[in-house]
Amino acid sequence: MSILGITNDKMTGKKVAIIGVGLTKFGELWEKSYRDLITEAGVKAISDAGIDGIDVQELFVGSMSPGLFAAQEHIGALVADYAGLTGIPATRVEAACASGGLALRQAYTSIMAGRNDIVVAGGVEKMTDVPTGLAMTALMGAGDEEWEAFNGATFPALYALMARRHMMEYGTTIEQISMVSVKNHANAKHNEYAQFQFEVSLEDVLNSAKVAEPLRLLHCSPITDGAAAVILASEKKAKEICDNPVWITASAMATDTLALSDRKSLTQTNSAILAAKDAYKQAGVGAKDIDFAEVHDCFAIAELLAIEALGFCKIGAGGKYTEDGHTKIGGEHPVNTSGGLKGKGHPVGTTGIAQAIEATLQLRGTAGKRQVKDANIGLTHNVGGSGATAVVHIYRRD
Ligand code: COA
Repeated sequence: MSILGITNDKMTGKKVAIIGVGLTKFGELWEKSYRDLITEAGVKAISDAGIDGIDVQELFVGSMSPGLFAAQEHIGALVADYAGLTGIPATRVEAACASGGLALRQAYTSIMAGRNDIVVAGGVEKMTDVPTGLAMTALMGAGDEEWEAFNGATFPALYALMARRHMMEYGTTIEQISMVSVKNHANAKHNEYAQFQFEVSLEDVLNSAKVAEPLRLLHCSPITDGAAAVILASEKKAKEICDNPVWITASAMATDTLALSDRKSLTQTNSAILAAKDAYKQAGVGAKDIDFAEVHDCFAIAELLAIEALGFCKIGAGGKYTEDGHTKIGGEHPVNTSGGLKGKGHPVGTTGIAQAIEATLQLRGTAGKRQVKDANIGLTHNVGGSGATAVVHIYRRD
């Protein structure tokens, strides 16, 4: 057992692979419904894996708030139905914006437990059919209703507090925070699935509309529709049917207080620090071995907190590390090659699966213009709320 009680592949001798991926375009997709989105992603993933629907034994779907965003609940059965998989166990998983990462972890665990050989992990959210105010109310369900939402706090406001505190404690500048957005938009330009396939300059970010001081529009992830799915297989099945499996070598999760005000520090995401520590232990690697990472940049400041929690740089040094170019493609630790939540978009329950897809494309060597050279080990970091949940996965090519 690992420090957090998670059985890892070294202990069980079992391995789990990603053998197929499917993603929809991200954005404001008027012409597609909630069920259209997840069905499209699932069908693409099954076809990419070269399997038949009939081979799928179980599915897990991450979806944060379909009741409020799309007036639809009972998601497990809905997805099984529309994917033509009626009959198999199908479960909706919810951990706010980390719902996708947790669905991946449940699917991984189902194979590690020896219960199944082929399992689907999906994520879906249809957020743009409601006005921004209602979307904000749905999103704040991930915070503490009594201490935060009821008193008017929103996620932009909570992350603005973290940004202010980081600036005060470590001398981080708003320019350094803004460089996260510039980099992620530059990466999103090369991602055909991204909501924002265009670059922004530092001036554009610094002069964009104020949202919650010091955060501006171009420091925020957008409200997004989109779905993603991956097919996981046991080692035996993966070797039988797949030429280019991507192995999941660690799956870790940790939690923290729901309300930001209950934390000892506003500038350290303890859940991510714990999950990363456990993931590195499971995979038998350290931060220095990670060739690229997809991290949860729901606001630009969150990427600095993420790279610090993952140990890419010291706590407090994220601004300087970003300014020095270490998180760009070609840098020491390329971060958010997909465009991240900022550029690619953030359909909340989908994000964790979309991150796993970028990791798979990078490790297959098929990420096109955003390909990281010699990518061998990748990491994904998916966060719920202001950090009450963190899910970290590590992947390798062979
Ligand atoms: N980045 C870049 N552009 C954005 C954007 C973003 N985050 N959000 C909206 N836009 C653009 C739109 O594309 C639109 O452009 P257009 O006029 O050229 O069509 C314009 O800004 C206005 O869009 P609109 O939908 O009216 O914006 P809004 O004011 O309703 O919403 C935010 C803006 C920042 C409030 C909203 O994106 C938001 O709440 N983001 C955070 C989501 C969140 O909290 N997620 C969970 C994280 S834990």
